[in-house]
Amino acid sequence: MSRLLVCPPDYFAVDYEINPWMHRSNVVNTERAIAQWHRLVHVLETELGATLERMKPVSGLPDLVFTANAGVVFEGKAVPSRFRYPERRPEETHFEAWFREHGYGVTTLDEGLYFEGAGDLLGFPDGWFGGYRQRSDIRAFPVLSDLFGKEILPLELVDGRFYHLDTCFCPLSGGELLYYPPAFDDYGRATIKERLDGRRRLEVPEEEALKFACNAVCIGRQVVLPENCPKTMTLLESQGYQPYSLPLDEFMKSGGSAKCLTLALS
Ligand code: ARG
Repeated sequence: MSRLLVCPPDYFAVDYEINPWMHRSNVVNTERAIAQWHRLVHVLETELGATLERMKPVSGLPDLVFTANAGVVFEGKAVPSRFRYPERRPEETHFEAWFREHGYGVTTLDEGLYFEGAGDLLGFPDGWFGGYRQRSDIRAFPVLSDLFGKEILPLELVDGRFYHLDTCFCPLSGGELLYYPPAFDDYGRATIKERLDGRRRLEVPEEEALKFACNAVCIGRQVVLPENCPKTMTLLESQGYQPYSLPLDEFMKSGGSAKCLTLALS
């Protein structure tokens, strides 16, 4: 049974600009955002069979909806995020409190050691990958690797539009990887190739990567992804997955989509 943490978008807005997608002039339509979020949550619960935990939204914290950045959770342990940008730092105490209140063993990273949670740490049962440079620090990964007893292969993110690993890299439950190779440097691409043979690597075309096709939620054989990604849907179907495409463009105004709006809990 998959459990996901979500946070309703009551206070979602673009009040500052900390990634290339965010423009204060591109005002969020709150009603539409709320409707898109509720549809996402409905599909996750009814079609994907997920159990959702809802956090309380906080006024003045517009990006709290992006719970992928709450931290990372594994086997009852949680490490809350340390945000690079001061605009998001006030979220840290809310996420940390949620983890503590829900019984997780919490380890906090040193201040100034940036780490943006499951937005930058993803993987398969046999190997994790950590995205760094745009938001998380590469120095966070050895600490997390020790704590969780998992190897973490660092991947440098070289394109500011793909500023979190989950914007360009999506591990699927059958062991395949949906990803956008140009978001990584040669070394990162070689690392991915070394770990995943050609059969397991599904490359997303640029026009759909820019629609955040890789920011998908996969549970079992079902995958929720943003709308207007037909090639990615065909790719997923060819591997036996059932894609659900949803309108999430209000959240794209902030540089986020389906996956950013959820955190896998375990
Ligand atoms: N506006 C948010 C930020 O720039 C979006 C975060 C999206 N989250 C993610 N996991 N990619 O931090």
